[in-house]
Amino acid sequence: MKILVTGAKGMLGQDLCPILEDVGAFVIETDVDTLDITNAEQVNQVLNDIRPDMVIHCAAYTNVDKAEEDLKTAELINVTGTENIAETCGKLGITLVYISTDYVFDGESIEPYTPEDLPNPINNYGATKYEGEEAVRSLCEKYYVVRTSWLYGHHGKNFVETMLALADRNEINVVDDQVGCPTWTVELANGILKLLSKPYGTYHVCGSGFTTWYGFAKEIFAQYNRQAPSPLEGEGWGEGLKPCTTEGFPRPAKRPKFSVMDNGGLCRNWQVALHDYLELRNI
Ligand SMILES: NC(=O)c1ccc[n+]([C@@H]2O[C@H](COP(=O)([O-])OP(=O)(O)OC[C@H]3O[C@@H](n4cnc5c(N)ncnc54)[C@H](OP(=O)(O)O)[C@@H]3O)[C@@H](O)[C@H]2O)c1
Repeated sequence: MKILVTGAKGMLGQDLCPILEDVGAFVIETDVDTLDITNAEQVNQVLNDIRPDMVIHCAAYTNVDKAEEDLKTAELINVTGTENIAETCGKLGITLVYISTDYVFDGESIEPYTPEDLPNPINNYGATKYEGEEAVRSLCEKYYVVRTSWLYGHHGKNFVETMLALADRNEINVVDDQVGCPTWTVELANGILKLLSKPYGTYHVCGSGFTTWYGFAKEIFAQYNRQAPSPLEGEGWGEGLKPCTTEGFPRPAKRPKFSVMDNGGLCRNWQVALHDYLELRNI
C-alpha cells in the first residue's frame, strides 16, 4: 500500500512513518518544503502524480497559545490546508486519515467523551481543528477522523521532556485541575494501524485511563527515578513539583477542564506507555 504522510517531519510524523514501513507500506514523507498543504495547486498536482492509496494528514498549526493571536495562520493551515487535502482525496477516491484533537470539546462533560459527542471548542486551535474535521467529513467518503490528546514523542517539544528539563528546580508548578489522556506518538501510530480494519468514521485514539497534568508530571518523575540510567541521575528529581490551579498558571488559550476520551480499547494504559517511552529514551 502506498501511503503519503503530510507533516512527516513533525513529532507524530517521525514516529508514524517508520511504523508504517515496518508493516510493509511504501511511505511518501512530505512536509511544508515538499508539499505545502495551503497551496491547493501543489496538493492537487502531488496527489495526482503520486496517486497514493491513503493520505495520513498530520500537518497542522499546533501552537495552541499562539493560535489565539494568530487565528489567520491557524485557519490557513488547519482549515484551508485540510480542505485542500480533503477535496483532492475525495475526488481521487483516496482514503484520508485526519489527525484531530481532544480540544474540539469544551470540557464540561463529567463522562469520557465518545466520538458521537458534540464538539464545542473553546479556543482557536480547537475551533480550526474542528473545522478541518468537518471539511474531511463533507468532502471525503473514505475517511478516518482520529482524535488524540496530550501527545508526547521522541521527536518534538512535549510535556514529558519539559518536565525532565525542569526536574532539578526547587519549584515546579503544574496544573492539577485539567484532566485528560496522555498519549505516546507510538501508541497513536499503532492505534491508527488498528483502525484501518474498522469502518470509516470518527474515532478516539489516546492513552487509556486519565490524569491531570500534575498527576502526569508526578508519574514522569516517579518512573524516571526508578529507571534512571545511573543511581545518581534522577536522585531527588521532581521534588519541587507542586500542584496549582489553571488560574494560578494563566495561558493565552483556554483549555477544557475535562477532555478524557473513550478510546474503545484502541490504546494501552497511559502509564504503561510512558514506561516504554522512558525506557527507550534512557537506553
Ligand atoms: N501535540 C499534541 O499534543 C497534539 C494533541 C492532539 C492532536 N494533535 C494533532 O496531531 C497532529 C500531529 O501533531 P504533532 O505534535 O506531530 O505536530 P507538529 O510536531 O507541530 O508537526 C506538524 C508538522 O506539520 C508541518 N506543517 C506546518 N504547516 C504546514 C504546511 N503548510 N504544509 C505542510 N506541513 C506543514 C510542521 O512544519 P513546521 O514545524 O515547519 O511548522 C510540522 O512538521 C496534528 O494534526 C495535531 O493537531 C497534536
